[in-house]
Amino acid sequence: MARRRGRRVLLVLLAALPVPVATSTPALAQGQLRIIGGTGASTQQEPWMVALGSRSVYGDYRSGQFCGGTLVSPTKVVTAAHCLYDESTMRPANRPDLRVIVGRSDLSTSAGSEVPVSQVWIDPDYSMRSNMWDVAVLTLAVPQPGRAVLPLVDQGATAPYQPGTAATVYGWGDTRGNGQYPMTLHSVQVPMIADSTCARDYPDGAFRASSMVCAGDQSRGGRDACQGDSGGPLVVAGRLVGLVSWGTGCAEAGHPGVYTRVAAMADAVRGQL
Ligand code: ARG
Repeated sequence: MARRRGRRVLLVLLAALPVPVATSTPALAQGQLRIIGGTGASTQQEPWMVALGSRSVYGDYRSGQFCGGTLVSPTKVVTAAHCLYDESTMRPANRPDLRVIVGRSDLSTSAGSEVPVSQVWIDPDYSMRSNMWDVAVLTLAVPQPGRAVLPLVDQGATAPYQPGTAATVYGWGDTRGNGQYPMTLHSVQVPMIADSTCARDYPDGAFRASSMVCAGDQSRGGRDACQGDSGGPLVVAGRLVGLVSWGTGCAEAGHPGVYTRVAAMADAVRGQL
């Protein structure tokens, strides 16, 4: 599918996102906890997993965390474009104290560091209305040499997106779908879902396979990303294949998580590295 190319916009030092408000979800079955349905993870094991924080907007509580991101080079972080938008104005938000938090699994600690951001690139085709092309690249003001990075999937790759492929999603988001934000990083394994299935789950063109892909337990629910996980990585075989983007509720059967399909825009992202 041909990609519409918009004007390139380079946005400097803006950023932020709507307060990660939890949408209500039907009561979850007992034992379904974490990211949702996952377990603890750590930035020792996953050194490329970073948090986006803004203390002026979200407070010192949890280091100001509001989204996730992935270190893909010593100076570049890939996240979701919507993390950098203001939901009320539908415009990129101005967050002078935007920080990338590296090496801090537990947000109540001062482990690792909070790195200022010198430049923000948002995909020029990103649409807040359609959620399409939900990707952004942040440039770190202080390089992070020696920290392991996660490689991007190749442009046009299809193998990692085969239905049933095991993927893992990471984040500090809501663990219950009711506004319970953890201090520590979590992860959960979710199978990739066929585009045709996801198009039925999100009808009327809400799901667009050109720039999105779904993952989760389609029939039973219980495992998913949720509010606050946005921008964080969906990983298959040690590569960044998706970014937490949107979904109806969290971990609901028949409403899987929708991710930015990184293989659809890997070249554009690489052009920013
Ligand atoms: N938009 C949400 C955020 O800003 C992420 C929602 C993901 N939802 C899901 N059910 N996977 O944090």
